[in-house]
Amino acid sequence: MWWKTRLAGVLALGLVVAGWPYFQPEAVSTHGRITTSVVFNREVSQIFQKKCFQCHTEANVSMSLTTYKDARPWAVAIKEEILEKKMPPWSAVNGYGHFSNDVSLTAREVSLITSWADGGAPSGVLLADEDKPAVIIPSLSGWEHGEPNTVLAVAASEKVAANSQDRTSRIEVATGLTQAKWLSSMQLNFTDRRIVRYAAVYELRTGQWLGTWTPTHPVSAMPAGVAIQLPAGGKVAVEIGYRGTFEEASGAGELGFYFSADKPAQVASPLEISAAAVTVAAGKTRERVRTELTLKAATTAAALWPSLGAGAASVEVTALRPDGVVEPLLWLKDYRPDWPSSYVFKEPITFPAGTRLTVTAYYDNPGSTPLRAQPALSVTAFRPLLRVATARPASRPAASLVP
Ligand code: HEC
Repeated sequence: MWWKTRLAGVLALGLVVAGWPYFQPEAVSTHGRITTSVVFNREVSQIFQKKCFQCHTEANVSMSLTTYKDARPWAVAIKEEILEKKMPPWSAVNGYGHFSNDVSLTAREVSLITSWADGGAPSGVLLADEDKPAVIIPSLSGWEHGEPNTVLAVAASEKVAANSQDRTSRIEVATGLTQAKWLSSMQLNFTDRRIVRYAAVYELRTGQWLGTWTPTHPVSAMPAGVAIQLPAGGKVAVEIGYRGTFEEASGAGELGFYFSADKPAQVASPLEISAAAVTVAAGKTRERVRTELTLKAATTAAALWPSLGAGAASVEVTALRPDGVVEPLLWLKDYRPDWPSSYVFKEPITFPAGTRLTVTAYYDNPGSTPLRAQPALSVTAFRPLLRVATARPASRPAASLVP
């Protein structure tokens, strides 16, 4: 595994230190001098439980950080990763939009972890307990909202080959519905979490975006009380971003649908904002691609799903209301294309007719001289696409849009 190399370095260092007992007695302790009251067992584990265990447990996306024994060798790396805002992967800048699926660390959480790592990374548990988790490990399989009304197999025979690269698969799944149903919520589960970066679900006929699974957010873009009608005999398309792996793995998953019996007060309607593809010459950086759309009818936005593609460096989404008020909706700075995410508003936002939504993306094409240690890109034409989960009153006709 990739992390073994780094861990091996840490262990080797431990051996050298342990080999000095006569000359440097203080250095013998693998735990060093403790200068902080922040301990793994209390503050640190609780933060990890909320913000890291979605990816850092056994048989998960990355190495386990559940026990002191697991986490201690990583203390310095953890501090570095969080100070550089690399972990947890979340590109949205704090203060530009408020999102319910935000996993970024608060300033207080950063200072607690930093203090722990700088202060000798104490455990706060008896030595015998260092290989037991101090907090409950959340269950990552199973259904968050109880048993779904329908469970569909997704990518049942999909295999991710050993020593493979990242790739995206698009799989069509028949819903098997014999009559139209109101879909109010859904969830995806994958057999092997280690190899899935994200999965986005669309209704095939209308292209309506239904939600995006990420390790930290298992789905549904629609808020409570909003539903979308799935037709009888229809299909959904599931786009899955698989991660390259060393061992062969199963790419299969399950898609659970929750239906509401009654027609909802609000129905979901599709909204996409896309730019014409722009060519960015090799070696060029910060090339701006901008596109906008004016809403013809009042629209409630519940979530954003940016598809920016390789080479995207940052993107800004703003709303200009007819009264001249500019509202920043999302700013992805130092965008990480490897961990795409949807952005689910804490509270859906209602825009009056005439509101102009603007998407401004910046692209880098390192070409043959890689910047930021990126490999050369095989694509040169960039096209940002922003999908917005929107809702409108069920009685009114579909909002028509003026590009
Ligand atoms: C969305 C999944 C995800 C979440 C959430 C997450 N990580 Fe990670 N982390 C990864 C992956 C994947 C890697 C492996 C490197 C990569 O592919 O980016 C990694 C690598 C790391 C590394 C090792 C970096 C190195 O030196 O190689 C550290 C340390 C780390 N994460 C700490 C954390 C901490 C602390 C948190 C919570 C505050 C956290 N991560 C949350 C996915 C995640």
